[in-house]
Amino acid sequence: MDQKILIVFVLLLNLISKSFQNPNPKIPKSTPSPAHIELASYGFPIGLLPATTVLGHAINHTSGDFTVKLGGACKITLPPDNYVATYSDTITGKIVKGKIAELDGIRVRAFFKWWSITGIKSSGDDVVFEVGMVTAKYPSKNFDDSPACEGQHSAS
Ligand SMILES: *[C@@H]1O[C@H](CO)[C@@H](O)[C@H](O)[C@H]1NC(C)=O
Repeated sequence: MDQKILIVFVLLLNLISKSFQNPNPKIPKSTPSPAHIELASYGFPIGLLPATTVLGHAINHTSGDFTVKLGGACKITLPPDNYVATYSDTITGKIVKGKIAELDGIRVRAFFKWWSITGIKSSGDDVVFEVGMVTAKYPSKNFDDSPACEGQHSAS
């Protein structure tokens, strides 16, 4: 890969990581939804899914294909740098213990563009985010609490 492009990707991932490292401390701990609990059973911290209405979720335990339906698209603004991450009202992917692939529905805005998070891995201590072929690793404890969902889009 061209070195310049590589550097841009590394910078981008630093921005993404920063935005995930600041869970909103004001969120009360509420009862996690069945989808949050299922996520935890696959070895992921529940904070990867915002504290929002989960209408339902479906998972094929053989193939790992899953769908999560949220009450609406969800926006999170991550302090202190105010990066924006969005969750579509439908999140799909393929999950096995410690690994989510073919992820669709979670994006982060950086460098005036939206970047899709295509996969997430969890080792227990660390969470690794994938944007295409590029990865970045952060401590799992940053995601112990679900961030508040703001700006629910009533139109969806
Ligand atoms: C679950 O996945 C397996 C393996 O891909 C497939 O054979 C099966 O039909 C799927 N079940 C449902 C309910 O989609």
